[in-house]
Amino acid sequence: MAARTIPVDAFDLVIFGATGDLALRKILPALYRRFLAGQMPADAQIVGAARSALDDAAYRARAREALGDRVAGDKRDPAILDAFLDLLFYVRIDATGEAGWDALCDRLRPGRVHAFYFSVAPGLFAPLAERLHAHGLAGPEARIVIEKPFGHDLASARALNATLAQHFDEGQVYRIDHYLGKETVQNLMAIRFANMLFEPLWNAHYVDHVQITVAETVGVDGRGPYYDGSGAMRDMVQNHLMQLLCLIAMEPPARFEPDAVRDEKVKVIRALDPIAPADIVRGQYAAAGGRPGYLDAVEDPGSRTESFVALKVHVSNWRWAGTPFYLRTGKRLRARVSEIAVIFKDPPHSIFGDGARRGNELVIRVQPDEGITMRVTIKEPGPGGMRLIEVPLDMSFAEALGDAGADIPDAYERLLMDVIRGNQTLFMRGDEVEAAWAWTDPVIAGWDARGDRPVAYESGGAGPEEALALMHRDGRRWRAMEG
Ligand code: BG6
Repeated sequence: MAARTIPVDAFDLVIFGATGDLALRKILPALYRRFLAGQMPADAQIVGAARSALDDAAYRARAREALGDRVAGDKRDPAILDAFLDLLFYVRIDATGEAGWDALCDRLRPGRVHAFYFSVAPGLFAPLAERLHAHGLAGPEARIVIEKPFGHDLASARALNATLAQHFDEGQVYRIDHYLGKETVQNLMAIRFANMLFEPLWNAHYVDHVQITVAETVGVDGRGPYYDGSGAMRDMVQNHLMQLLCLIAMEPPARFEPDAVRDEKVKVIRALDPIAPADIVRGQYAAAGGRPGYLDAVEDPGSRTESFVALKVHVSNWRWAGTPFYLRTGKRLRARVSEIAVIFKDPPHSIFGDGARRGNELVIRVQPDEGITMRVTIKEPGPGGMRLIEVPLDMSFAEALGDAGADIPDAYERLLMDVIRGNQTLFMRGDEVEAAWAWTDPVIAGWDARGDRPVAYESGGAGPEEALALMHRDGRRWRAMEG
């Protein structure tokens, strides 16, 4: 089964920060794969813009090298790669000064979408928006794509939104949360709203609790300076885990349209209870077995930044009152696994009289091995009575969908093409980001005010003991962390 590809209109895409890690590791490979899939028009133009003294040829050489590293062998067709590289141009630019802007204006062609990707340090988001406007590049054909972090707290996010709003309409601003571009994350909406099976049970009457896990095996190596000023709460919970929570908890939007979906997500964020200190655990991984600990990766030997967070939160509305949502994320954990588990309540009465009643469980595996598993109870085969066992009803995209399931596009492929198509459904609206910060800020302020320190946890484990206790005290437990 081949994936269906609908070509997009001709466009000019400018990547600010074109020589940076994100551009070379994610954006260019994603564009190449869309080109290979036949989605990108042959007269698209991709303009790298950065401070380095390069020309078109040198930038193409750099892109060729990056693609060689990032694109799987079976996708490296030399003729197609050459044709793709022909679409690339380079403009040397000073993002905060005057140099290079005239050259950029000359390079852009009228009558087509102009997308500007801000793949730069967050401090440059506002200046870049101002420069674009000053050079007449903020007209209706313009779209700006902003990477995270979108602000460091509510005040900075508000200030940034206000600056962007001086130069662009909200409909031109594409705030990226790459989790929304992941196939399985979009599938959360398909599973919920394209099936009759789940939605009637999707509420506090039937759902005991929800677990959201985003576990990573990597540490903060190489990203210490950024990460130490951020921590897991800002780096992961405020955005990625919050988005997953929204898609699980939101009411069905009337249509799959940008504002219909985003309105419902904002309502979820606004319905979140504040977090009591006893309902959140923060951890920091310790050195172990010759592998450096968190404090070895950052400059401040007394850093109190967390590399792990586990928390319990309630969504205070009619649908969810009484059903807790448990979230956890961390680095240097046992396995790389992102999943959402919806744990249903026990049946009200057991006719089998064995007392062993266990609720069904629906697990949506975001990555890796994308798929869905449902735990159901059946009779253990064999004579000698009615013994019950729990078995998985398992669906792996790779198996169920053949090539299309095995060859899952990277999040950036989908998101970049949505920018060109002008579809904001999978991008965060300004009020959504602000609402998320408004919920996150008091938690972080509380830690700071109390001088709270994260607890140490062992690298390669399942996180701090305290995180396990967060569940145990409610008579529940986390699912095993297995990759
Ligand atoms: C990024 C965070 O947004 O997401 C990183 O800054 C994290 O710290 C990454 O490692 C995880 O993304 P993925 O797609 O690998 O799950």
